[in-house]
Amino acid sequence: LKGALMMKTEIYKTDQIKEAAAQLKQGNLVSFPTETVYGLGADATNVEAVKQVYAAKGRPSDNPLIVHVADVQTVEKYALPLSEKAQKLIKTFWPGPLTLIFKLKPGALSSHVTGGLETAAFRMPASEATLSLIREAGVPLVGPSANTSGKPSPTLAMHVYHDLKGKIAGILDDGPTKFGVESTVLDMSTDTPTVLRPGALSIEQLESVIGEVVSNKHHVGLTEVPKAPGMKYKHYAPSAQVYVVDSPSDFKIALEWAGKQPYKVGLMVTEKLYKGFDLPQNVEFFSLGQDVQTASHLLFAGLRKFDDEPEIKVILTEAFDANGIGVAYMNRLNKSAGQTHFNVNKIN
Ligand code: TXA
Ligand code: MG
Repeated sequence: LKGALMMKTEIYKTDQIKEAAAQLKQGNLVSFPTETVYGLGADATNVEAVKQVYAAKGRPSDNPLIVHVADVQTVEKYALPLSEKAQKLIKTFWPGPLTLIFKLKPGALSSHVTGGLETAAFRMPASEATLSLIREAGVPLVGPSANTSGKPSPTLAMHVYHDLKGKIAGILDDGPTKFGVESTVLDMSTDTPTVLRPGALSIEQLESVIGEVVSNKHHVGLTEVPKAPGMKYKHYAPSAQVYVVDSPSDFKIALEWAGKQPYKVGLMVTEKLYKGFDLPQNVEFFSLGQDVQTASHLLFAGLRKFDDEPEIKVILTEAFDANGIGVAYMNRLNKSAGQTHFNVNKIN
């Protein structure tokens, strides 16, 4: 970080794009909104600025960054010629929650962006404010999720402020993000396109445009595609132990167990499930809304809320079927739980 000095972190509104862009042009860091989660922006062509991103997040430096663009020409400037499938995907889904990995022209981007790989990840986010910010800055922006490394990704400007205040120049605040889980990462540098990280765009949506893609959707969260370097690190983890609870009948047992514990327990379920429960006094409820869509939107916010309450030692969370956005939801939940499912025989 520039000195070890704490800086003032400005909150920019969407009518202050010029001010936010000026910071980026000077090599400073500004968090930006997207339809998935908030990103931590820096000029992708400025090595010193990119290095600060790793420092501010506490992120391992072998974990490459997504390059956010406002037009396809910028991708073509850095990447080798795009395949027909890639062009179709871009035409259909950009701007939107799809990150595409392409082979680079040699030396096109700094190894601090690529983690030393011969590829880079590109994405055009569906946020008018952020597209304007990129255009105004005049450079593509690297943008990992704007959380401290290992913590849940931020879905509100307030989450970014909580993790990074004093370490970054500003946050462009455009309210809550739409999807709440990160983009789908698709590797286009291999013969068959491969999903490296399930995300807000479903595998079914991808396959409807380019046919079969390689993915591990049937083993969601249980196996990993280690090729996305970021997938091997501890992720989305609050300090409390998260348990995945697989069925409503398991919840009944889990709540009985929770009532006997000497500490507080957090409960993250949809309204429908919650209405059927008798909550013990030491259990605090966070609503996941109506369905898997709202649950994906609210998952990280709930984990963060409970993380701010040190009395809560355990968080019980609802599982969903791994279809559509449920693949991404279960992937993130399983990671935050370290794959731990509630099992009454094991827990006592
Ligand atoms: O929705 C999103 O994708 C958000 C918003 C801010 O755009 N960004 C985000 O970035 O989630 P990050 O850095 O938290 O996750 C990027 C993932 C990591 O798992 C990283 O390892 C992988 O993409 N990745 C980036 N470049 C790669 C490359 N060249 N090859 C393989 N994986 C790559
Ligand atoms: Mg991240």
